[in-house]
Amino acid sequence: MRIRRNTYEKVCHLIASNIGNRIKEQNHFVLGLATGSTPIGIYEKLSMMNNINFRDTTTFNLDEYVGIDKHHDQSYQYFMNKHLFSNLNFRKHYFPTEENYNEYDLMIKSYGGIDIQILGIGTNGHIAFNEPGSSRYSATRLVDLTENTIKDNSRFFDDVEDVPTQAYTMGLSSIMSAEKIYLVAVGKHKKEILEEAVHGNITEDIPASILQEHHNCEVFYSE
Ligand code: GLP
Repeated sequence: MRIRRNTYEKVCHLIASNIGNRIKEQNHFVLGLATGSTPIGIYEKLSMMNNINFRDTTTFNLDEYVGIDKHHDQSYQYFMNKHLFSNLNFRKHYFPTEENYNEYDLMIKSYGGIDIQILGIGTNGHIAFNEPGSSRYSATRLVDLTENTIKDNSRFFDDVEDVPTQAYTMGLSSIMSAEKIYLVAVGKHKKEILEEAVHGNITEDIPASILQEHHNCEVFYSE
């Protein structure tokens, strides 16, 4: 794995066009989606692709908070509707929820697995909400968020007390089963953790480091 450095604009363009091209080639496509500020530019580019038919594409999101309604403006379902789903007609979209999280990995498998997975990285090295200590074999599950993550994500809430302390997250096992992964990190505050994840030891302390074992993971960094 190596880190490719480029402007945010170029990174988003490259990833969105690769996704678009793959969707054109393939009848049924499965796209793994991330939330957070990092992928917004990719979703903007995808939303502008009027020449591509997304109706045979199914999406699986990585995670969702526990304890906030899906209509809450900080829920990940709300985020995805705002940035992508209101612009494009996908066949179906899924989020891990209280009702389905035990079957989420099987649901992904029943669609043939994820073709392309978009990933961001937390400042503690988490991917989705697989916090440090998560097993490489972890399934989709209910997790407690670390203090670091609650603090990082409090920028989107009025008060740190309002940040959910738990989430449903796709496990590292399903993420690692994706055929292709794009890991994107934006901003100087992500530089160090990204370098550790990509060039350091593979360790459960930095969940993103497990991606070194993936056969087709491209990593992008933009300042
Ligand atoms: C959140 C999400 C992750 C995301 C990360 C980084 O906690 N669960 O999937 O990658 O934080 O977010 P951002 O892109 O806003 O820095």
